[in-house]
Amino acid sequence: MEKASPMSKTYAWVLCATLPILLIISATMIKSGRTPTPSTLSGSKAVESSVHDFMEGINKPAYQRLVACLSQDILDEDTWKAVLADSLLLAESGNLLLLRPIKDPQAWAVNATNVRESGTKLYESAKLKEITPVRLNFDAMLHDCDACHQQFSNGMPALPRVILTK
Ligand code: HEC
Repeated sequence: MEKASPMSKTYAWVLCATLPILLIISATMIKSGRTPTPSTLSGSKAVESSVHDFMEGINKPAYQRLVACLSQDILDEDTWKAVLADSLLLAESGNLLLLRPIKDPQAWAVNATNVRESGTKLYESAKLKEITPVRLNFDAMLHDCDACHQQFSNGMPALPRVILTK
């Protein structure tokens, strides 16, 4: 019988020693999330968890842009596009707010859902480009925004409804 050479013995030893290490490294890489798992793909997660910063970054600027657009007497094509975009953004903000209850999750969810629904009406009416129903639906949505401010932020801010009264 042929005897294994000292060289091939060394190769076998190196293989036995490195294989488990390679297995551990690849298992760790999968665990550390480099490969997305079903739970990381389907779950929603708040990027900004502070409600104050969320309002400052998303709802406030969209609200201010809508006030500026809807205060005009005649809206051109680009202005209608801007109205449509910000209506969609504020309607979707209702969904995003569901991820960030600060207290009383049930009441929070009711307020967030109301804004999503009145925001959807605003968005749908903006597609038809008729100013009066759009202004009325904007006003109705602001009523729902403020209902949450009443309940969760001592009534602050009370969003001015300049459009219908001027
Ligand atoms: C589910 C509850 C909720 C809804 C719905 C909601 N907000 Fe707010 N909003 C808050 C809370 C709470 C604050 C106070 C955050 C703070 O300063 O701590 C706030 C603050 C604000 C502020 C003041 C931000 C600042 O600069 O201090 C604005 C503007 C605002 N919201 C706009 C809106 C608009 C527009 C809508 C509707 C499209 C809306 N919010 C809907 C909870 C809500």
